[in-house]
Amino acid sequence: MKIFTTKKEISDYFNRKPVKVIGFVPTMGALHKGHLGLIELAKQQSTQVVCSIFVNPTQFNDPKDLEKYPRPITEDIRRLEEVNCDILFNPQVTEMYADNEKWHFDMGDLEHLLEGKFRPGHYQGVTQVVNKLFNIVKPDVAFFGQKDYQQFMVISKMVEALEMPVKLVMCPIEREPDGLAMSSRNIHLTPYDREHSLILSKTLNWVKENFDINQIDTLQQQAAQMISNEPGVELEYFEIADGKTLHPATPASESVVALVAARVGKTRLIDNVLID
Ligand code: PAJ
Repeated sequence: MKIFTTKKEISDYFNRKPVKVIGFVPTMGALHKGHLGLIELAKQQSTQVVCSIFVNPTQFNDPKDLEKYPRPITEDIRRLEEVNCDILFNPQVTEMYADNEKWHFDMGDLEHLLEGKFRPGHYQGVTQVVNKLFNIVKPDVAFFGQKDYQQFMVISKMVEALEMPVKLVMCPIEREPDGLAMSSRNIHLTPYDREHSLILSKTLNWVKENFDINQIDTLQQQAAQMISNEPGVELEYFEIADGKTLHPATPASESVVALVAARVGKTRLIDNVLID
């Protein structure tokens, strides 16, 4: 695997060696099976696969979260080599950002709904870095996880608005055998938190199994109650939403997604399930 840390190395490489389909998997590292699943899918659909590892400071609204974000780069490189990733882009913050850079992307109410409400400015940071990464890597196809459903919607909106020549692919959520959605933050869960974190996926599945479009309010209330009753778990939101707008689902919704965010101990977790 080639490892590049500068923009120039990437552009020189692809200028010298034009590639038919560049597949791209942006990440913040601490790679787990969810990330590796994206790389494997990218391998199937591309000629060369680029993975980026960059813990992007502009998308963290909590400085403590940024500071304690795991950065096991040696282990990450080993994992990427195991799945035959072709290129790793692993820049420093100074390579990506000049001082006092400004960015604003108008993503409509997606900015303030759900994650946006609890993490103000988060999606401005995400669109800022993904826009930069797309301009550097110039991928033909980019792969993102359904785990961050709203992030996928926000990035789709940016790609459409800025007419970026890249196709986006959404990959299913990888879970632990007991149902917990894989996440780089799971390592912060104590054994107690880990046990109680299961309420999130259990409740999402319960809603999927008992789904009735005419009973959304009741289902949503019951789901919120199930999570709030769990020791050590503090619910932020549980929404049964329209899959296209993320506004509350209605009988007219073509697709429906149930989304949850909660603090389990000191760790913030998100998860969702598609209901169709
Ligand atoms: P990160 O949290 O590292 O996630 C990188 C990609 O992996 C995202 O597309 C995310 O949705 C996907 N992913 C995470 N957990 C997953 C799981 N359990 N199953 C399937 N896919 C999963 O998302 C980011 O980084 C950043 O916001 C980024 C897009 C890189 C911009 O900084």
